[in-house]
Amino acid sequence: MSEDHHAAIKVYKRLLGYAKPYWPLFCVALVAMLVYSLSQAAFSYLMKPLMNGGLVEGNPHVIMIVAGEIAALFVVRGIASFVLNYSMSWIGRQVIRHLRGDLFDKLLRLPTRFFDTSATGILLSKLTYNTEQVAESTTNSVKVIINDSVTVLVLLAWMFYLNWVLSALVLVVVPAIAWLTRYVSRRFRRVSTRIQDSMGEITRTSEEVIAGHRMVKLYSAETAERARFDKANDWNLTQNLKLAFTNCAANPLIQIIAGFGLALVIYVLALNPVGAANTVGDFTSFLVAATLLLPPLRRLTNVNAAIQKGVAAGESIFHLIDLDEERRDAGKPLERVRGRIEFERVGFAYHPRKGEVLKSLSFCIESGEMIALIGRSGSGKSTLASLVPRFYDVTAGQVTLDGEDIRGLRLSDLRRQIAMVTQDVVLFNDTIAGNISYGAAGEVDAEAIREAARAAHILQDIEALPDGFDTLVGERGILLSGGQRQRVAIARALMKNAPILILDEATSALDNESERQVQRALDELMQGRTTLVIAHRLSTIERADRILVLENGRIVEEGSHDELIAHSGVYAGLHRLQIRSTA
Ligand SMILES: Nc1ncnc2c1ncn2[C@@H]1O[C@H](COP(=O)(O)OP(=O)(O)OP(=O)(O)O)[C@@H](O)[C@H]1O
Ligand SMILES: [Mg+2]
Repeated sequence: MSEDHHAAIKVYKRLLGYAKPYWPLFCVALVAMLVYSLSQAAFSYLMKPLMNGGLVEGNPHVIMIVAGEIAALFVVRGIASFVLNYSMSWIGRQVIRHLRGDLFDKLLRLPTRFFDTSATGILLSKLTYNTEQVAESTTNSVKVIINDSVTVLVLLAWMFYLNWVLSALVLVVVPAIAWLTRYVSRRFRRVSTRIQDSMGEITRTSEEVIAGHRMVKLYSAETAERARFDKANDWNLTQNLKLAFTNCAANPLIQIIAGFGLALVIYVLALNPVGAANTVGDFTSFLVAATLLLPPLRRLTNVNAAIQKGVAAGESIFHLIDLDEERRDAGKPLERVRGRIEFERVGFAYHPRKGEVLKSLSFCIESGEMIALIGRSGSGKSTLASLVPRFYDVTAGQVTLDGEDIRGLRLSDLRRQIAMVTQDVVLFNDTIAGNISYGAAGEVDAEAIREAARAAHILQDIEALPDGFDTLVGERGILLSGGQRQRVAIARALMKNAPILILDEATSALDNESERQVQRALDELMQGRTTLVIAHRLSTIERADRILVLENGRIVEEGSHDELIAHSGVYAGLHRLQIRSTA
């Protein structure tokens, strides 16, 4: 428990750190809080002259003055309330913005391995839901703690001044309330973590259904998906109800305890002990103060809930923020490379406990050479290709670029050397022009985009669209066909004009016309670049300078098309099969 407590305090301190830059505004809020608290006490103070001078002695003059004072008091109180609430909200929103920014930054910098094992929906829910929870914790709670504590203290001071015996009685209830608060807060943190997890689960399930809606329809998986969703949704409900139950039960309990305290005070008053209230005004003022004490006390007990939620949310956010990221700027800077890539006894495993996907691979791609990589599905072709831009690091051996281990090169520079067209083309929610010039900083030459599109044989298709290059594609735009998407990706790669090109040909067969167009686009793209093609098309393979045949993570054959045919090994076999299937 105490270690737990310690960790919670650490997380909370770190959250407060996000609010630190706004301390001047916080000071303004602090003053407003003081004014607000004092106005509360002043209200109870005014009851004394109102009762004694006004009602008991029947002096209308006093009553009128008090009326005026009350009006003025509420104006001051209103202004103070606005200033303190708005400043604290302002700070809270800044904290959320900052945290979201940090989280997003992290998503941009985390290694591929991280994404392999994380569900999108859960990450999204951290970015959207958990960050909101944090604001509650950092600002609203601070507001409550300071504002209400000061109010309570001021009111208590006033009460003690009026009558210390009665006040001491009121204080008897405080330990009981404190104990209850401790219990409630512990429970809150536990439940809050579960609620956040369940929100992640809800987002994840929904996200999958949205992205995979076609499959859901086709496989009539609506009921199953609904069940899966219900499970997360119900869990969320149960946990939220637990939270609500604790919250709803704690409030009246505290009020009951406080009420008993109050009753005790009145009872003791009847016994008229030494130092008890001597005027009606004193007693009314005392009672008003004691009543005014209740709402801030209640909020002070609730504040724990908010803090615990925030700590739970903060924990999960910081866990993500503290993960190791790729070090993009370390290492040797690179100008444009010549593009000689060498794999030296490269071994790679996705997971140490699962076997090696690539085993002691050695080969070299000379600058400007075109290599075709072929092999059965699952033989490790895409894996091999992803080692070059360091989506993953080798687990044995090394990959060198122009003779230097790529692990020693500056990552951002290394990746600038590589254009890649992958099996599943990713288009961003942007215009076609934006997709082709993706990642280019600053003003992009429209003519250059057009030229890239022409070279990728996609220009005609684009011009046929109603808005041409300004047509939105991706999630909320028009959908392009598979072949068109590939050619847009090829245009993007052309636009990047990198010395190294990696192509992971889609296995899905395109029709002849579109295949020819894609092939022509690729021919343009490959010119003068070091190219590694994971090839499925015979046309690509036969054009390669050399062919590497990969089997179970090893290179089993290497040579030109003619050499390998003559060798009549694995390649010759695959070739025969493919010719037969295309025939
Ligand atoms: N991100 C990953 N995490 C763990 N294992 C993976 C990952 N990606 C691929 N694998 C495994 O690594 C092996 C090689 O996969 P890879 O994608 O490199 O095959 P491939 O040769 O490209 O196949 P295909 O021709 O079907 O694209 C497979 O057994 C696969 O299950
Ligand atoms: Mg693959």
